Amino acid sequence: MNNIGVGISGIGSFIPEKVITNEDLSKMVDTSNEWIVERTGIRERRIVQKDTTTSDIATIAAKRALEDGGILPEEIDLIIVATVTSDMAFPSTACIVQKNIGAVKAAAFDISAGCSGFVYGLNLAYSFISAGIYRKVLVIGAETLSKIVNWQDRSTCILFGDGAGACILDACEDGYGILATDLGSDGNGGHLLTLPAGGSKLPASLETVSQNLHTIKMDGREVFKFAVRVIEKSANIAVEKAGLILEDVDFFIPHQANLRIIQSAMKKLNLQSHKVYVNLDKYGNTSAASIPVALDEAYRRNLIKKGDVVLLVAFGAGLTWGSTVLRWNKQEV
Ligand code: UT7
Repeated sequence: MNNIGVGISGIGSFIPEKVITNEDLSKMVDTSNEWIVERTGIRERRIVQKDTTTSDIATIAAKRALEDGGILPEEIDLIIVATVTSDMAFPSTACIVQKNIGAVKAAAFDISAGCSGFVYGLNLAYSFISAGIYRKVLVIGAETLSKIVNWQDRSTCILFGDGAGACILDACEDGYGILATDLGSDGNGGHLLTLPAGGSKLPASLETVSQNLHTIKMDGREVFKFAVRVIEKSANIAVEKAGLILEDVDFFIPHQANLRIIQSAMKKLNLQSHKVYVNLDKYGNTSAASIPVALDEAYRRNLIKKGDVVLLVAFGAGLTWGSTVLRWNKQEV
């Protein structure tokens, strides 16, 4: 085997047990199951227990990825955690995972790229491995958004859920693994999706707490328009960079934010529904965890076969976006 590709050699995920249905939400805010399903496609979401942290669920996903790949924690050179719900401002969640899994020789850091964080992390891992700096990189997308949602705000609390997904990137056969990536950002739209307080701009104070500024604020309509625009653009760039055309894509995993956004992308990219993975009906939007969780589920359901061209497309706070084209290098489960 000629090892000059960089692919996923281990994958795992974790979704908490506790379910919050649309019906449950309709008892908390002025909404209905019909509205939520029609506008978003979401039927229920999962949330962690009060004392469970992002690092806890990231650790479970990481252990599952190690097991899947038959890889020991001490073989990991670098851990990247993509999250907007880190356990605390510092130390990084990646360092907590490093301790929890016993990755004794790994460097570790977090990245903040909103819902695009996992795709950003994949590109970082690819770059480190291609440059010969590291051999095995653990990339995790993990979120406990239930902790930063304003449960009184019907325009956001219906959307989000908790979860974690992890992949180990490693050398693979030439022609397989990551073929191309497109990443981008537009800070001009940063104000459209924020968690305003708790940083240097608005340190925590009685006032920030009383004004609910430690919870998600979003201009949903504008983010929707941005998403529809950017998915088409970024997917096309990444597919072209890979030397492929959209017809070559066997499987499409979009960020799971809103079914209407996914349907619009399918139409614009001319991708039929059997090629598209959707699980937002069960989990809602889990931000940086949404793509690795969906990828792990699709892999375990044998929907992706070795050699398939897989397209991942994410968008989110920043604003950021990112696409990755992979030729799947793992055998079926
Ligand atoms: O991964 C991060 C990226 N985030 C996203 O991708 C979110 C993208 N945006 C969206 O998914 C959609 O914009 C939402 C689902 C958030 C909202 O759907 P929309 O079709 O854009 O609705 P809207 O914000 O234009 O609101 C329409 C109406 C408003 O009432 P009026 O002003 O027309 O009387 C809202 O107050 O729907 C109302 N509304 C609700 N009604 C019942 C907003 N949220 C709710 C609700 N239940 N939960």
